[in-house]
Amino acid sequence: MKIIFAKDYRQMSRKAANIISAQVILKPDSVLGLATGSSPIGTYQQLIEWYRKGDLDFAQCRSVNLDEYVGLGASSDQSYVYFMRSNFFDHININPANTHIPCGVNPNEKEECARYDALIRSLGGIDLQLLGLGPNGHIGFNEPDDFFTKGTHRVHLTEATIQANKRFFECEEDVPAYAYTMGICDIMQAERVLMVVSGAGKAGIVKEAFFGPVTPRVPASILQLHKDFTLVADEAALSAL
Ligand code: GLP
Repeated sequence: MKIIFAKDYRQMSRKAANIISAQVILKPDSVLGLATGSSPIGTYQQLIEWYRKGDLDFAQCRSVNLDEYVGLGASSDQSYVYFMRSNFFDHININPANTHIPCGVNPNEKEECARYDALIRSLGGIDLQLLGLGPNGHIGFNEPDDFFTKGTHRVHLTEATIQANKRFFECEEDVPAYAYTMGICDIMQAERVLMVVSGAGKAGIVKEAFFGPVTPRVPASILQLHKDFTLVADEAALSAL
């Protein structure tokens, strides 16, 4: 595990974007595992800026996103497919046909989860997986539990996650109760994992996840066992260490 210190959110975003751009330059047809939430937005903005300057080319890249709310489709501005288009895909030259997100409006849970795992396999796995960190230690939507779930699955979101994510919705009642998420094995099999974390509100969970025991009660703690895991965090997020 490598920890890269950043002064603030902006510097964290630039450092993370540097790592992703090196990946894309070294392997133009990389499979990028992508994340939503407020943490990676600055990273996407930096990548867009470098793309506009002509320094980056996403034409051959493929992407797989971590998760999606069950019941939300592309037309819903709270869906992760909408988030990814408006914050990243619409501003770079990635081929939309090569961007993949679990289908929140597929009511057939078994079929959707099997389809997504087969898709990741058919792409040859993930070269670099970008992650944020949920306030309860979740990655993607892998919530604290008694066990790690390996593959893509449908998850009942915890009250803590609903509370944390309600800021993106008009009211708490609008936050979907379920989501599809990649599993822990999908994430752990990525060649490289890169996490961005910012703010004092995450300081406690950063300490627990990366300096405490590996436990499904803190899903991100499994990343301590990954062969190439890099945490880029700002001073506030690292303040409890
Ligand atoms: C959501 C996403 C996670 C993300 C988390 C943290 O729950 N499913 O992938 O890491 O939010 O969000 P933020 O970066 O806004 O704190």
